[in-house]
Amino acid sequence: MTFIDLAKKRCSVRSFKKDPVDPKLLSVILEAGRIAPTAANSQSQRVVIIEDKEDLLKLSEVAQIYGAPMALLICADQDATWKRSFDNFDTGPIDTAVVMTHMMLAAADGGLGAVWVDYFKPDKLKALFNLPSSWHPFHVLAIGVPNVPLKSPDRHSTMRLPLDKTVFRAKNFRK
Ligand SMILES: Cc1cc2nc3c(=O)[nH]c(=O)nc-3n(C[C@H](O)[C@H](O)[C@H](O)COP(=O)(O)O)c2cc1C
Repeated sequence: MTFIDLAKKRCSVRSFKKDPVDPKLLSVILEAGRIAPTAANSQSQRVVIIEDKEDLLKLSEVAQIYGAPMALLICADQDATWKRSFDNFDTGPIDTAVVMTHMMLAAADGGLGAVWVDYFKPDKLKALFNLPSSWHPFHVLAIGVPNVPLKSPDRHSTMRLPLDKTVFRAKNFRK
């Protein structure tokens, strides 16, 4: 499968079978996250695997994970993130989003379903899982075997804006 085919095939899945995630597929997903590029190669991502029933229930108190049998909680270690020297801009949320993207595409490549979840209160989640104080939870990736047919790769022709709405040539902004 070419990259563009995989990117078009990937879709958010919000209904999962109860089957556990194949450990071999999980390894590939984690490896995809490990090799993701990060600012100045800071590798500030900290990935927490949530798979035990009690932990999944706990997570469900603060985030909708659609009954997934596994979730990856992606944090940035604020002590390890790259901060831009002249304005202290912190790339933690960007690094973790790149890691998420790698892992989400790896899940799709392995035939798993996944959905990116950011709708949660980070402080609540941090307390619930007793995370180290320098770790900030940015994203949750709920993963499992899809229990619904995958959306069509052709959906992007109508579900995404056409390029002329989001891509511009610099010469058009010249004064
Ligand atoms: C940064 C980000 C945050 C998201 N947060 C949520 C979320 O909290 N809950 C959810 O159900 N989906 C969430 N999504 C999934 C998007 O809604 C979804 O990717 C988008 O509607 C496009 O659909 P598709 O993934 O099927 O192509 C999020 C996606 C991204 C990239």
